[in-house]
Amino acid sequence: MGHILALDEGTTSTRAVIFSEDGRTVASSAQEFRQHFPGTGLVEHDAAEIWRTSREVIGRVLGTASLTAADISAVGITNQRETTVLWDRRTGEPVHRALVWQDTRGGEFVTRLTEAGLADEILGITGLPVNTYFSAVKLMWLLDSDPRIRERAEAGELLFGTIDSWLIWNLTGGPRGGLHLTDATNASRTLLMDLASLQWSPRMLEITGIPEAVLPEIRPSIGEFGRVDANQLLGGVPITGVLGDQQAAAFGQCAFSPGDTKNTYGTGCFLLTNTGTEIRRSSHGLVSTVGYTIAGQPPSYALEGSIAVAGSVVQWLRDELGLISSSAEIEELAASVPDCGDVYFVPAFSGLFAPRWRPDARGTIVGLTRFTTKAHIARAALESTAFQTAEVLSSMRSDSGFEIERISADGGMSVNDTLMQFQADVLGCEVVRPRIVEATALGAAFAAGIGAGTYADTQEVGQFRSVARSWTPQIDAGERTRILRRWDDAVQRSLGWV
Ligand code: G3P
Repeated sequence: MGHILALDEGTTSTRAVIFSEDGRTVASSAQEFRQHFPGTGLVEHDAAEIWRTSREVIGRVLGTASLTAADISAVGITNQRETTVLWDRRTGEPVHRALVWQDTRGGEFVTRLTEAGLADEILGITGLPVNTYFSAVKLMWLLDSDPRIRERAEAGELLFGTIDSWLIWNLTGGPRGGLHLTDATNASRTLLMDLASLQWSPRMLEITGIPEAVLPEIRPSIGEFGRVDANQLLGGVPITGVLGDQQAAAFGQCAFSPGDTKNTYGTGCFLLTNTGTEIRRSSHGLVSTVGYTIAGQPPSYALEGSIAVAGSVVQWLRDELGLISSSAEIEELAASVPDCGDVYFVPAFSGLFAPRWRPDARGTIVGLTRFTTKAHIARAALESTAFQTAEVLSSMRSDSGFEIERISADGGMSVNDTLMQFQADVLGCEVVRPRIVEATALGAAFAAGIGAGTYADTQEVGQFRSVARSWTPQIDAGERTRILRRWDDAVQRSLGWV
């Protein structure tokens, strides 16, 4: 039986997972990489470190599984989206640390575009609001940061890419002929792609002043992305599937039919609903995005509710406050109290994303008394993810036209049963968890498997859909309304801080 290797480059760690063709995890290896916070609102990654850790986890996972490139039929790539790398095509050296999706430094460009009255036109072309979250704003900042960088970009000396492009270019040879490519899901997060044509929008290039010479070619998510360079461990293996991590998770959850909804509890939290071959527009703060594209077939679109802070609030409690010593401890601590003790925690560290899109919000904890313990704060932190999800699901129900009576959860925090129960309580619908919560890596493997011909189509992949556990609401509608109002009151207090 053949194997597929998925390279999952998330916000805080790089992971390589080998799956057998029948959807079982054979081996996996993960490595955290460094987060750089050089100032308020600034978040950076070292792209060279990401490439190094990628090679390391590939080496380790092959070793653990006792396999070589000859046993791997295809590679799938999935990645944190929007994070922006600009590098020298001759040397492969990035000109600056990667600007991470959470980085808010492009505020001045957001204001400029908004004040020029361009927000509606941009939303119409790209499906996205003007926000520091998206790549074009980060790239505008980089090009503006040094006249020499702009000159070199215009002269075709520099290449821009989200992390998928950076990895594909390096895997396929880097300075010695690496391919400069991206897929439609990642491109749909740059604020530069026309959501209908799936090509770079000439109008967006004009508006942002970004030279076309830096952009990668957009390919279907499932199709050909070249072969790994002979000098690499996976030398000769074709790359046949590339998806942004949230779209990959939807793919891994087999959310192939319109209305299918998944929520991934990672660093942030991202709820996606498949809207079929139609672009649905939101009037409640969701973004229209590409779900996946297969060469020669119409695209599958999605609506997305993006939440900036979910698992990262647990990391913050661990690393910055020292309230817990490991992330796993939070479940026991939160479960040691019956409720939040009327404490509400709005983790607006990068402002608030969907559905409110308020860059002026900042984190706040309200309701503290001498009765409050660290357990209440831990519980309120966990509950914030569920409350934010409730807000985006309510928008999703209004905008998508689907009832949505169940959501499929995945990602690291989905193993937390206390959170999953609370999630079902505040949503008032069923929450299910699949057998493999690493849906992101699984989705990249499924996509690569279809691209390589291992699976015929999404229908064949659909046989791997699974439910390991499910939760139904345990509180009544009155109580749900009361706590959601309380949450909204807390959010109001976080707005306008900047
Ligand atoms: O849009 C950002 C997203 O792709 C990051 O995902 O899983 O690293 O939180 P994650």
